[in-house]
Amino acid sequence: MTENGAIGVFDSGIGGLTVLRELLTRLPGESFIYFGDTARVPYGTKSAETVLKFSRENVTFLLDQDVKFIVVACNTASAEAVPRLQREFRIPIVGVIEPGVRAAVRMSKTSKIGVIGTAGTIRSEAYQRGIKEISPQAEVTARACPLFVPLVEEGWVDTPTTEMVAESYLGEYRKREIDVLVLGCTHYPLLRDVIGRVVGERVALVDSAVETASEVQRVLEGEHLRNHGGEVDFTIYLSDIAPDFKQVGERILGREIPQVRLRLV
Ligand code: DGL
Repeated sequence: MTENGAIGVFDSGIGGLTVLRELLTRLPGESFIYFGDTARVPYGTKSAETVLKFSRENVTFLLDQDVKFIVVACNTASAEAVPRLQREFRIPIVGVIEPGVRAAVRMSKTSKIGVIGTAGTIRSEAYQRGIKEISPQAEVTARACPLFVPLVEEGWVDTPTTEMVAESYLGEYRKREIDVLVLGCTHYPLLRDVIGRVVGERVALVDSAVETASEVQRVLEGEHLRNHGGEVDFTIYLSDIAPDFKQVGERILGREIPQVRLRLV
């Protein structure tokens, strides 16, 4: 492994482009290979065994591309598969849970923390356990918000319907007086405005994408794998290419996507 290799990133679909967006901003000089498993999305509703199986396949594919480092952008895969993947593969692998956990504990003054994610992420209790490990007195209220992913994929990021759904999922957080809410899903940073309005401005929102990018930078530097001099470049592979991918993907990534390659699963 040399510092010149690309960084591999995988997600269940295209929501992980929120993580790629942060990585591209924070790590100039690096090149990235992104794999979105769009043929098998969502992972959030599947069993832990299935998510682990798909995640192993995704890591193997990225290793075949000679990546030097792997970022698991998907919260569900991070919650249900990353500890196993770290034991099974020799390449450094970073998921989004630990960076999100650390940021939540750092930012909370009252130790009342909310966590939202897919059904799989919440069921795994990875965030809840992680927070309690470093802050045993923390009061964590976790909630699955399964309708958020399809709303974002439809582009309904700030509509009255989205606001209504957010209110019914998150209204109770106002009573619980949390001061930090972890957006524990690739898609949720895109709903930041609506979520922020519903929970109120006193509540700080933890964006795992931002936190993960800084963790990746730290680990790359620690392992002497940081490439400062390369050309910024990214290649996107998907297991199914929807006709509107370019439009939706560019909105999430915030930059043009020149080309996308198909990798059948
Ligand atoms: N990428 C998933 C996550 O962050 C959301 C979409 C899915 O359910 O696969 O948990």
